[in-house]
Amino acid sequence: MNTEIQIVNPEYFQDVQLEKACKVLRSGGLVAFPTETVYGLGGDALSSDAAQKIYAAKGRPSDNPLIVHIGREEDLHRVAKQVDGQARRLMEAFWPGPLTLIFHKKKVVPESTTGGMQTVAVRMPSHPIALALIRNSGVLIAAPSANASGRPSPTRASHVQEDLQGRIDMIIDGGQVGIGIESTIVDMTEDIPVILRPGYITKSMLEEVVGQVRVDPAMMEDKPRKDLVAKAPGMKYRHYAPRGRLTIVEGTLENVVPYINRILEEHDRRGEIATVIATEESKSRYRTSRVFSIGSRQTEGSIAAGLYDILRQMDAVGAEYIYAESFQGDRLGAAIMNRMLKAAGYHKINI
Ligand code: TXA
Ligand code: MG
Repeated sequence: MNTEIQIVNPEYFQDVQLEKACKVLRSGGLVAFPTETVYGLGGDALSSDAAQKIYAAKGRPSDNPLIVHIGREEDLHRVAKQVDGQARRLMEAFWPGPLTLIFHKKKVVPESTTGGMQTVAVRMPSHPIALALIRNSGVLIAAPSANASGRPSPTRASHVQEDLQGRIDMIIDGGQVGIGIESTIVDMTEDIPVILRPGYITKSMLEEVVGQVRVDPAMMEDKPRKDLVAKAPGMKYRHYAPRGRLTIVEGTLENVVPYINRILEEHDRRGEIATVIATEESKSRYRTSRVFSIGSRQTEGSIAAGLYDILRQMDAVGAEYIYAESFQGDRLGAAIMNRMLKAAGYHKINI
């Protein structure tokens, strides 16, 4: 299959530039497109065939449900049952934006879209291209992140090309996305909302709007536990993983830097390729040229935005061993560390 690439400037574009993509979606094809979080791989959410094509293109296990992206609030009622006052307040506060809400599904949503579940995840993205694509196509768009299953989510169109070139109809290249980690997922099917995946919208932001919010216990663990099954099926898979062995080294920089420098020497002696994921503040303290800055600790947002690109670069340079500082910021720290731990297969040491 030939994958057509269409470049669209998110700050200034005309609807005609999206016409081809809308046509592809209407006829059951797949289009990757930018959202404010990561690139999504879109197909018609109400078509079982399109959903199956999405799983096939990503190589994704078909029990892992897709998020339905909508362009207008009315569309929520086409797919979801029992939208209560709490949900309405969250939508009012955070839609369009990086928040996904889970409801009981209506019959029109095929089980192939929801991975066999009787609930449906819905979000209204704020990215202008994503919104225009949904509204103009008239299609509710099922879209997982546009990476091959298990790889880091794409934050640029070139990442999508790396993984899905030749497997999908079209990629809309709208440049680098803003947030860089996936949306916060909140289950609205219980009395108290439950966070299933941390993201840009934090627990305290949610609590300001609806009072008490709980966190899925499986999400809080540093290690996967057999007795706790994540409520978001996708959270149980190894994810975002570079090919090399990633270790997160926790502790004060005074301890972490010399520790990593010592290990680097050992790898060097053995002729192994080892890299470091550091920050603007610390990068000059490592005795290697293979140090990669993920962003600045002064701006947590830059670390979130740089995370997946850095993980992909590790593969590009052939890293066999990767040592990353830990990033425990106050706002996005939970979301960033959740992704890093999964990428590391929960391999973390504290020194
Ligand atoms: O920011 C985002 O959410 C991006 C962009 C493209 O919108 N999408 C995204 O989709 O991250 P994906 O498929 O990579 O992750 C969806 C997550 C998975 O962990 C999945 O298990 C969970 O949402 N999920 C979807 N529907 C669910 C449901 N009905 N119940 C529980 N978890 C669900
Ligand atoms: Mg994903």
